[in-house]
Amino acid sequence: MIYSALKRALLVLDEHGFETFGEEWDEMVIDQIATMSGRYGNLTDATRDLQDYSAFPAGVGYLFMYAAGHAELVACVLEKAHSACGHPTFNKQKLRVASIGGGPGSELLGLIKFLHEHQPDSLPEKIVYTVYDKEAGWEHIAAELAESIETTIEIVLKFRPLDVTGDCAAVTLEKQDLVMMSFFISEVSNLPKAAEVREALKHLLGTIPADSYLLYNDNSNMAFYGYLNSRRKSAGKFDEVYDSDPHHFDVPVPDLDGIFEEMIERFERTPKLSAFALSKLLVRVK
Ligand SMILES: C[S@@+](CC[C@H](N)C(=O)[O-])C[C@H]1O[C@@H](n2cnc3c(N)ncnc32)[C@H](O)[C@@H]1O
Repeated sequence: MIYSALKRALLVLDEHGFETFGEEWDEMVIDQIATMSGRYGNLTDATRDLQDYSAFPAGVGYLFMYAAGHAELVACVLEKAHSACGHPTFNKQKLRVASIGGGPGSELLGLIKFLHEHQPDSLPEKIVYTVYDKEAGWEHIAAELAESIETTIEIVLKFRPLDVTGDCAAVTLEKQDLVMMSFFISEVSNLPKAAEVREALKHLLGTIPADSYLLYNDNSNMAFYGYLNSRRKSAGKFDEVYDSDPHHFDVPVPDLDGIFEEMIERFERTPKLSAFALSKLLVRVK
């Protein structure tokens, strides 16, 4: 499911890239992937150059390199959490889900995979999925990805610009059943505008309603989770219902055929399907 959706989206986006940038398209994506993977190596340095996702080749490069692994991690964590502690349970017809720093919508793919595998006979009719992200360029890519998912669930995708280094007081998560932060805290926990980010996260987490879930995934550096943990403590009470402990996560590698195979050749890179990760599932208590 994850790969077929990504393949459909990548085909359309790649064609759009060629039409817009012509012969230079491949080189632009290759450059963006190289810059991105270099920058992910020093996320604890507040003086680093920030990853800029605004260019279309960066968005497509990200989707090709990282979305499959991140989506699989979400599906796997939800499954493991459910086997370990019976959470999460989703038994509403209409599910509201938000992803902060959600980018292209990788987490949506993981959630849909979990729902189809875990509760095929009681799927929600509709998911209203809101991506909150500072980079408006993701909207087009996330919309393409959401359209590419084969599911009987009606997906309503919303994109809301949100920069946690700015004033987020007007944003509320009070209707969400599930809020996800996947590979987001590592990007914002060490920034020059540290006080603003702390304030924004305290506010956002504080608006999550009782009994709703907060899913955290990131690389296994405990400093990132320590940072989120302090923010959630200042925001109110959450119970930790599942803790993966830092672990090496390996995605079962499928046949990377079709557009994946073609892009591996053209971009001279292979999608990142493993990570040292740390995941937590929390539930809001009021
Ligand atoms: C590594 S990507 C993760 C994307 C997605 N969650 C996933 O797992 O594939 C980090 C995301 O955080 C977003 N981001 C970075 N700084 C941000 C900020 N100050 N406010 C909101 N979003 C931000 C980026 O635009 C990007 O989409």
